Amino acid sequence: GLSAATALARRPAVTGAELRSAVPLPPPYQVPLPIPATLEPVSEGRYEIVQRETRAEILPGVRTSLWTYGGTFPGPTIESQRGRQITVTHRNELPVPTVVHLHGGRTPAASDGYPTDLVLPEGWTGHEGHGMHDHRAVVTELTRDYTFPLDQRPTLLWYHDHRMDFTAPAIWRGLAGLHIVRDDAEEALGLPAGHRELPLMIADRAFAADGGLLYPSLDPALRERPGVTEPYLAGVLGDVILVNGAPWPVHEVDAARYRLRVLNASNARHYELEAVTDDGRRLDLVQVGADQGLLAAPVTHRLLPIAPAERYDLVVDFSGVPVGGRVRLLNRLGSGRTRDVMAFRVARRAADDSRVPAVLSTDLPGWRRSDAVRVRDLAFRTGRVHGGHGWLIGGLPFDPARADVTTRLGDVEVWRLVADVHHPVHLHLVGFRVLSRSGGPPLPHDAGLKDTVSLRPGESVEIITRFDGYRGRFLFHCHNAEHEDMAMMANLEVT
Ligand code: C2O
Ligand code: CU
Repeated sequence: GLSAATALARRPAVTGAELRSAVPLPPPYQVPLPIPATLEPVSEGRYEIVQRETRAEILPGVRTSLWTYGGTFPGPTIESQRGRQITVTHRNELPVPTVVHLHGGRTPAASDGYPTDLVLPEGWTGHEGHGMHDHRAVVTELTRDYTFPLDQRPTLLWYHDHRMDFTAPAIWRGLAGLHIVRDDAEEALGLPAGHRELPLMIADRAFAADGGLLYPSLDPALRERPGVTEPYLAGVLGDVILVNGAPWPVHEVDAARYRLRVLNASNARHYELEAVTDDGRRLDLVQVGADQGLLAAPVTHRLLPIAPAERYDLVVDFSGVPVGGRVRLLNRLGSGRTRDVMAFRVARRAADDSRVPAVLSTDLPGWRRSDAVRVRDLAFRTGRVHGGHGWLIGGLPFDPARADVTTRLGDVEVWRLVADVHHPVHLHLVGFRVLSRSGGPPLPHDAGLKDTVSLRPGESVEIITRFDGYRGRFLFHCHNAEHEDMAMMANLEVT
């Protein structure tokens, strides 16, 4: 017979079945949008985060237990200045080992959160590896200092768990937070700021009857059972859309421009965002930045696809909306409840001295194909892993002991990425530019410097980058978190 993975791979759908929540869900646009608190340093450049379980009210009247950074989901936001190094000490009080990765950070390998560099909980006697590929932990500590030089373009980063084979359930349970890098040049542009700059972490979840987060079992005995295998293999989808940890929230805004710093922190869900007024008008989503910071010039979208782990820095102008009116942020790829994301209610007229300059930045790397010293072909496809189904890069499952790509510090390379189903591909350490899609030009939302690119089913995408910064062992992988856990990850060795 056809394996579940092959059957899924042949399906045109971008993702698999959606989990159904077993508790009553609130109507949309009732819960206020939370803004995650900013983390205060314990001393200049030093932060501490305790990873611990907590119970929180995500759905009104329902208690949900979570794994958190510092007791909240999302975790606290870290605000940094470009080039000012910080150290974050993580202590693990969760029942499982964890690994912290700063996504999009230009971070030396020792602090990059390699999937076997574990922060152990006290008294941990468990065994690593759930049978897909057993392995040994390399570094094991109860606390760990992560040092981030942050010598990089200002942008929205995020930190999340990255433990080998178990990243997806850990993020699902709440291990994700934001990190914003700023600099003076960006501040001087005059983009909307203060309360008119909103981080929006979008993530889907599903809730069990006891209020806990629903997630398919990883028990190998259940893998072949329909309804367990399929959602897991394709990537786990929930029927509740959270923004900053609140279900379909609403936020009161001035009739003015806002800067929306959007992250898709979902395990597997892709969105196509549109901002729609009560009378059915679509507002412009003016993109000013990509994963790795400011674009050269703004790009206007009406409909914006966003894959897991991608960030889009958008300016939306609410000044044309009457006071009392509402703008809904909708997901064109959703159906039923997953079509709604959040709403903005225009509360008052207000002065607005913000602007969107025609030139946003002049420091984007302009690598050309002719700069590349190497071209690599990397296929992201389903396949067999140790007798089970998994996801492979170049025909191989992740092995922490194998160097998959070896490059030299300073080399420019072109990578040709091909996909069977939808795979958001992420590189650690570097930003890259999209050169082409299936032989044609990049799409409008491919502009700027990225660290995650959405490979659509059957597509081939060329990216170009320069491997600079640090030597050592880094990663690249699919950021569908379940694909990542099912071995779609590889080592990038910079020598
Ligand atoms: Cu956002 Cu290797 O991860
Ligand atoms: Cu994938």
